[in-house]
Amino acid sequence: MRTLMIVGARPNFVKIAPLLDEMRCYPEIEPILVHTGQHYDYQMSKAFFEDLEIPEPHINLEAGSGTAVKQVAEIMLRLERVMEEMQPDVVVVVGDVNSTLAGALTAAKMGRPVAHVEAGLRSFDRTMPEEMNRIFTDSLSELLFVTEPSGVENLLTEGRSRELIFLVGNVMIDALRRFLPRAMCRPLPPELSGQDEDAADLTRPYALVTLHRASTVDNPETLRAIWEGLNRIAREVPLIFPVHPRTRNGMKQAGLCGAAPTVSSGVKLVPPMSYLQFLKLQSGATMVITDSGGVQEETTALGVPCLTVRENTERPITLTEGSNLLVGLDGRRLVEEARKILRGEGKKGRVPVLWDGNASARIVRTLVDQIGTNHSGRTKACALPNPLLHAA
Ligand code: UD1
Repeated sequence: MRTLMIVGARPNFVKIAPLLDEMRCYPEIEPILVHTGQHYDYQMSKAFFEDLEIPEPHINLEAGSGTAVKQVAEIMLRLERVMEEMQPDVVVVVGDVNSTLAGALTAAKMGRPVAHVEAGLRSFDRTMPEEMNRIFTDSLSELLFVTEPSGVENLLTEGRSRELIFLVGNVMIDALRRFLPRAMCRPLPPELSGQDEDAADLTRPYALVTLHRASTVDNPETLRAIWEGLNRIAREVPLIFPVHPRTRNGMKQAGLCGAAPTVSSGVKLVPPMSYLQFLKLQSGATMVITDSGGVQEETTALGVPCLTVRENTERPITLTEGSNLLVGLDGRRLVEEARKILRGEGKKGRVPVLWDGNASARIVRTLVDQIGTNHSGRTKACALPNPLLHAA
């Protein structure tokens, strides 16, 4: 079963790693890894491949940055040639980035079945580029692998057939469980490890910050309001803030710092982190402040209080069951809730059912069952029983 696996951006790499690992148990699967090149800096791409032990991609489309339209179109044109040559039995896309949509569109146009990992999530905010990517990708997919019950509901509401929807758990949490012990032994960069004179002291409480969404960092007013909130929190607890390239540009536009990430007033700005370094910092943080989707889930799995600087989330289970709280974009509630956490009144939450480290096993087994039924000589050495596999 020739399986084209499409990745392009940072969170994709985390999700594909446990899937590729699981596929090793199925000799009948021939995984072909295609990197679209959406992310290309060492810290945004290669460092993740190294940390997550993902093999070199078979093909790198090197599509690079640009407007969303250019990026998706460029990936599609390059991917079409790859699919023509490879004739995959199934195309697997993960998450909600532009590479996800481009992969699904190309496959669907070429008559190839698409499997979407992390289907069904909805923020109901169509101004988010990721929301459009999710809606379109799901509508093009024939197998929909879902992380949480809200995803099943959303897909059913949109008229997708129950037979195509599989509630399987969360591959990002598979990766977290697998790599956390290794992350804990991973040295941190000099600016955080005590080797530098002004290194942060991680033996004392600290908060971790990540911001990179267009809706947060591309609007100077919004970014300034959040920055003001962060600086108020930094008077009470040190903040460590790895700065995404998009955020660096946004901060420059908003007049908040120079081009290079440096120490700022109470907020320690550092370059983007590798997966293991970031995981280690998350697990030791008193709180995490973020606008990322994946970080909302990771903090829920780690039981670390998370303040999400957004008006909505497509991952409601992190609010209802997990340690996540939405604090909006104006910075005021952010400061209030951060103070509560510092007083020891943070949300604890619990880990959702099926976020148990076995989502990739469920997905790969289902792929083989659904797509590979016509392939002879298959063995399922690593199959796991899962009564919840097929969404009720
Ligand atoms: C993308 C995803 C977002 C995801 C994020 C993770 C979309 C619509 N968005 O956002 O959902 O959470 O990745 O990081 O797909 N750049 C570099 N080096 C790189 C990559 C990007 O300098 O390796 C800069 C470029 O200036 C680029 C900008 O960052 O234009 C934005 O990159 P892009 O891939 O368009 O989107 P992200 O903001 O990273």
